[in-house]
Amino acid sequence: MVRAFETAWSARFGCRQAVAVSSGTAALHLAVIAAGVSDGDLVITTPFSFVASANVVLYERAVPIFVDIDPESLAIDPRRVEEAADAIARGGRDAAAWLPPSLRPSRRRTPRRLAAVLPVHVFGRAADLDPLMALASRLDVPVIEDACEAIGTTYRGRAAGTIGRAGAFGFYPNKQMTTGEGGMFVTDDDGWAAVARSLRNQGREGHRWLDCDRLGYNYRLDELSAALGHAQLARIDELLARRASVAAMYAERLAGHERVRMPSIDAPGASWFVYVVRLDPCIDRDQVMRRLADLGIPTRAYFPPIHLQTHYRQRFGYREGMFPIAEAAGRQAIALPFHNHLTGDQVSFICEALDAAMRET
Ligand SMILES: Cc1ncc(COP(=O)(O)O)c(C=O)c1O
Repeated sequence: MVRAFETAWSARFGCRQAVAVSSGTAALHLAVIAAGVSDGDLVITTPFSFVASANVVLYERAVPIFVDIDPESLAIDPRRVEEAADAIARGGRDAAAWLPPSLRPSRRRTPRRLAAVLPVHVFGRAADLDPLMALASRLDVPVIEDACEAIGTTYRGRAAGTIGRAGAFGFYPNKQMTTGEGGMFVTDDDGWAAVARSLRNQGREGHRWLDCDRLGYNYRLDELSAALGHAQLARIDELLARRASVAAMYAERLAGHERVRMPSIDAPGASWFVYVVRLDPCIDRDQVMRRLADLGIPTRAYFPPIHLQTHYRQRFGYREGMFPIAEAAGRQAIALPFHNHLTGDQVSFICEALDAAMRET
């Protein structure tokens, strides 16, 4: 079933190699290893994401370099990525300015190397890949796409996740399709795929069953989960269409609401992962969430930026104000209930409750 799922995935999304693994995080981690990211290296990524997209860089003892986002798409801003990458290439003080506070000034003698660029397709909308790919090719560094939220997303007609040197998809139950837990590492590079296949299975190579070439992991996807993934993939168009129709119900009921900013992902090629709106900055978002919770309507503050999470603050000295666009999005964003079986009445109930809660705060 694992092989059948991988083959079906490659055929559907147009990639040479698909390697099924136990989570989206595992897929991203294998991509970071395949890219050769290691001690002290730098990886440019976004602070406005799920924490795993930066954690995988730390797993390899490298340093995530956060770059603020575009306020409209909420994805990493390619112009700032270029600024950061060029500053890192120049080295010295220019490069140090992009390092986390606790690593500036650096006492390292050897300059730090930019080892990869890791954009995230936030909420199912593709990051602007063309300028990132052009920059990466000029600097000769790989792009690793975090497509964990972007199953079915396209960027200029190509499947998100298949455009960079490697991509990672996730199949946690909140995703467009699920395997319970699971993920897929994709690449057109046979060498990278071979590394990923070996590392997901304790570093074994080919048929030498108990002889490991590398320090590997148990990142295998089990047969039952693969069977579920295979069946879900066969229904993916129906699943995506159902999500789009629930999003359309929300859009109809919230249209023109002057205190609600519609989802950043309502854009060509996007695939609906979550329904996140941004509330007017003068509204107390957390109080709105509490009022909705009192009515039995669960919502999430999605995302709290990565650099402000306790581990990152303590380890790297990050503070508020360092990535203002990501922070503003993090303060205003609210993920409304979203799944394929929401009815029109439920969506109306949620939108009316949201409107009432905003009036009361
Ligand atoms: C952007 C992003 N990256 C990585 C992950 C990690 O995926 P998983 O939970 O399958 O490990 C997730 C999701 O959960 C995600 O949303």
